[in-house]
Parts: sequence; C-alpha cells; structure tokens
Amino acid sequence: MEQYINNAVEQFRAVLTEQIARQQKMENDSGAIDYNALDKIIIGVCGGDGIGPIISAESEKLLRFLLEDEVKNGKVEIKTIEGLTIENRIEKNQAIPDDVLAQIKSCHVILKGPTTTPQAGDPWPNIESANVMMRKKLDLFANVRPVKVPEQGINWTIFRENTEGEYVLGSRGVSLPGIAVDFKVTTDLGTRRIARAAFEYAKNNGKNRVSIVTKANIMKKTDGKFTAICHEVADAYPGITADDWYIDIMTANLVNPEIRNQFQVFVLPNLYGDIITDEAAQIQGGVGTAGSANIGDRYAMFEAIHGSAPRMIEEGIGAYANPTSILKAAVMLLRHICYSDAAEKLDSALAKCACVVTGDTSGATCEAFTDELLQLL
Ligand code: IPM
Ligand code: MG
Repeated sequence: MEQYINNAVEQFRAVLTEQIARQQKMENDSGAIDYNALDKIIIGVCGGDGIGPIISAESEKLLRFLLEDEVKNGKVEIKTIEGLTIENRIEKNQAIPDDVLAQIKSCHVILKGPTTTPQAGDPWPNIESANVMMRKKLDLFANVRPVKVPEQGINWTIFRENTEGEYVLGSRGVSLPGIAVDFKVTTDLGTRRIARAAFEYAKNNGKNRVSIVTKANIMKKTDGKFTAICHEVADAYPGITADDWYIDIMTANLVNPEIRNQFQVFVLPNLYGDIITDEAAQIQGGVGTAGSANIGDRYAMFEAIHGSAPRMIEEGIGAYANPTSILKAAVMLLRHICYSDAAEKLDSALAKCACVVTGDTSGATCEAFTDELLQLL
C-alpha cells in the first residue's frame, strides 16, 4: 500500500506543478482579439463524427451564402477542416491529431460538428474527448449557452467555466486498491475571467441579475473560491445583483414555473454547467435545439450541444439529422465575429422555418430544412 501512496503523491506533485504553470500562463494572457481590426477572418468548419459531417456541411452552405460578398472581397475565408473523425483520432491515438490541430489553429473561429467520445466498453482505445481537448488547447474558457422560451418568459444565458473544475484533470485521477480519487481544480484567474465574461455580458445586454451557482457548502475549497471571486468581480458592476445558489436547488428552480423566468444570467463551474445546460436545453425543446459557444481570447469554437447520434448512421437515416443546434451555434459564431446582420438573418429564418425535422423518416431531411432556410434568406 505504501508504494501506491507514494505513486499517488508523486502524481499529485506533477499535477500541481502543471496547474501552477497553467496559472502562470493565464497571468501572461494578452486579452481578447478584436475581430474588427483583422484584415481577414478565417472560419474553419470541422465535420466530426456520426451525423456531424451531414449537419455541418449544410451549415457551411448557409455560411457561404450569408457571407458570399465577404468571401469574394477577401474579408472572410471559410476552410473545411478534415480529419477530426474518430477513425483518424484512433489511428493517430490522439484526441486531436497534430495536423488537425494545426489547421484549427490557423483559423480564428471554428464551427464544429459533434465528435464521438470513446467510453469504457467501446471497441476503441480510451482517448480523451476531442471537445474537452479543443477547449483546453485553444483555452476556450467561456462556454456560453443561451436558452429561450419566449412564451414562458424564459431568456437565460448560461456562462459555464470551460477549462477547469472536474474537467481539467478528468483523465488523471489516482486509483489505489479499492479506492478511486479524482481532482477538481479552481484558480483565481480562471474564475475571474469567466465571472467577468458573465458580468460584462449582463452589462452590455441590459440584464440586472447574475446568479452564481455552486455546491460551496460541500466543495468548500474549489466552489468556495468560485463564489468568493464571482462576488469580488460583481463589485465592479454596481447595477447588477449577484445572488448565489446551490446547484441542487437551482436544478429544481429551473423546472419551477413560478420563479424560473426571473433568472437571467448564470455563471457556474464546469461540471454543474454541463449538467444544467442540458436541463435548460430540454426545457427549450431538447438538446437538439440549443447551440453552444466556446470562447477564449484568441480562438472561439461553436458547436451543437448534442452528440454524434451514431445510431442514426447505423440505421441509414443520417440524412434526417436535425441541424437546428449547429445552426444556432452558427448564429452565435456570426455574432461573435461582428457580422450581426447575417446572424440576425439566420436567426429569424430559423424562427420562421416551417419545415419540421424530427430526426427520423417521419420528418424532413436536413437538406430540405436548409433549402427552406435558403429560400427564406
Ligand atoms: C458538452 C458535452 C461534453 C462535456 C462532452 C461531450 C465531453 O456534454 O459539451 O456539454 O461534458 O462538456
Ligand atoms: Mg454536456
């Protein structure tokens, strides 16, 4: 047993050393890129796995249509990035193969189809999630997920911390005979930047409330820090109320019609954000209806929040995949790079589109849906 303990202690030392280095790197960050100051914005489109290539190819068509003039005059370039597939990732035994990462890094923003994450029992080696790896490699610290149900007065914007918490060392826990230990990491700088993103968003969008959600009564060190730093940041935003909640009661609040429409902006650590954004998306109509933005200072990646639906491909009905979620992500991408006219056009076409995609052969195909959007545009 002594040897196991020694090994675990050594691993913990390595983990701490890396986290200190990560914190130092954050200290040297130079701040957010200004898209208006760029000569050319490069958008990369990654297909991913399963239904990913189908829904992202349709989205690329719409982006090319909406940005036709900008592409012609050289203000925008749209690149199709190949190779972010489970087959290629397994062959290279890398969550994101080096050459694919290099292509991604040659862009400013990425539109990404869902990628398959191997899990225990799958026929593949247990490589890390491509999603999580991309968030880490591109330092995409803010995961922004809006959810709207106008007829119920619901208009939520969820700011999920995207690079820390339980995810940063997800595959680096330690096991001793009969015992498993995972690590959760929260840093001052990591918390401050997500809190600022949430409060800045609130300030710039006429919101007067930001709800901080943790389990600080149990996760005293990490979530305790998260709450304290969010309040520190809140002090610089006098017109905005910051209130704290525990994640358990907040999941109940979101299904309580009496109070849920009073919430506006949420800021929360990674894992709670993962869970609550699926709950929120379900309230809006399902995970297929929600888009997700992963934003850092230099890069940003926009994706559907659902999985790659391998079952649809096995059953030969991939053409019936619903592209709504990735198209919502495309709207966020356009807004992020300051093409708000194109974003509003796509958003309102999505709201008007009468074509119903159900994800099976009873509904329209993905292509028929895009065709109708193109008509509306
Ligand atoms: C999400 C997903 C990912 C996550 C998975 C695919 C790793 O659930 O984007 O919410 O846990 O963050
Ligand atoms: Mg999730």
